[in-house]
Amino acid sequence: MKLFDRDRLFGWLRSVGSVDWANQLETLTHERFTAASHGDLPRWQQAWAALPKPAKFEMHAISDAVQVIGELSETELVEVRERLMEFHPWRKGPFQILGTTIDTEWRSNLKWDRLASAFDFTGKSVLDIGCGNGYYGWRMLAAGAQWVVGCDPTWLSIMQFEVLRKYADADERHFILPLKDTDLPPNPHRFDVVCSMGVLYHRTSPIDHLQTLASALKSDGELVLETLIVDSEHATVLVPADRYAKMRNVWFLPSLSMLRIWLQRTGFEEVCVVSDALTRVSEQRGTRWMRFESLVDFLDPSDCSRTLEGYPAPRRALLTARRR
Ligand SMILES: C[S@@+](CC[C@H](N)C(=O)[O-])C[C@H]1O[C@@H](n2cnc3c(N)ncnc32)[C@H](O)[C@@H]1O
Repeated sequence: MKLFDRDRLFGWLRSVGSVDWANQLETLTHERFTAASHGDLPRWQQAWAALPKPAKFEMHAISDAVQVIGELSETELVEVRERLMEFHPWRKGPFQILGTTIDTEWRSNLKWDRLASAFDFTGKSVLDIGCGNGYYGWRMLAAGAQWVVGCDPTWLSIMQFEVLRKYADADERHFILPLKDTDLPPNPHRFDVVCSMGVLYHRTSPIDHLQTLASALKSDGELVLETLIVDSEHATVLVPADRYAKMRNVWFLPSLSMLRIWLQRTGFEEVCVVSDALTRVSEQRGTRWMRFESLVDFLDPSDCSRTLEGYPAPRRALLTARRR
């Protein structure tokens, strides 16, 4: 198992006829991996190499935590825990890796449960844009997806994915590319499902983002979209004057009515709202695996229905739609 090896992905894309797209993606991915210059990469790569590998191991992604099971000595179990901590902060999960439970900032299993209750991944090829460390990708595969391709520009997420990938089946069907949505070569029209969860509000042009999602889908393909929204009956959008919940990179928070208009204008139909709820501090919180500030620190201590800046507290909607 070689770090950052994505050859099987490009082979698969060529085998299903996406030769040009595979070639462009391969060149770009290779450039990114070769030019990666994040200051922590050497330390992460050392930790990755030092992670013990049992003679026999299995990965399971059918319960809340994505699990790697295998037998190790007491010394190796300690080594696993210490090496995994090198990849702090762990935001999306949880994971259980060779005896170590990683209680991540987000209980991503709750979002997965909302999605899986309403969506069938069986036999689908999936593109997950802004996939984080790939927690959902492992769950999608276990739920029957055929292939999952994620993209995310954050090197720590890529390295956390590599940790899990080290223990994945040799028949690899889950890949993450170190790319942004805007890096993807245009118009692959390849995927049965495209997911964008927790990304739309980070984009300075939400319409361009939705058009990118549409262009990655086969006609009739399905969109999974999760984003921050504002609670209003009107077609409206909040653009924070500066930070939102301490985040500098939050740009557009539409109401559901506005989101429906955006989706309709960008080529989607059959929009279905799977869930629409305030984010709870029981779902996003600090743990020993994420020791920085979390949701409770971003809310007004005297009124938890407001952010520190006085905006409505984070509310997220999960929607599905079909490409026309
Ligand atoms: C809030 S996290 C959501 C992660 C995951 N999708 C989830 O729902 O838990 C946003 C992710 O989007 C990634 N991201 C930010 N800008 C992006 C872009 N332009 N293209 C792709 N991913 C992006 C970040 O690196 C981060 O991992």
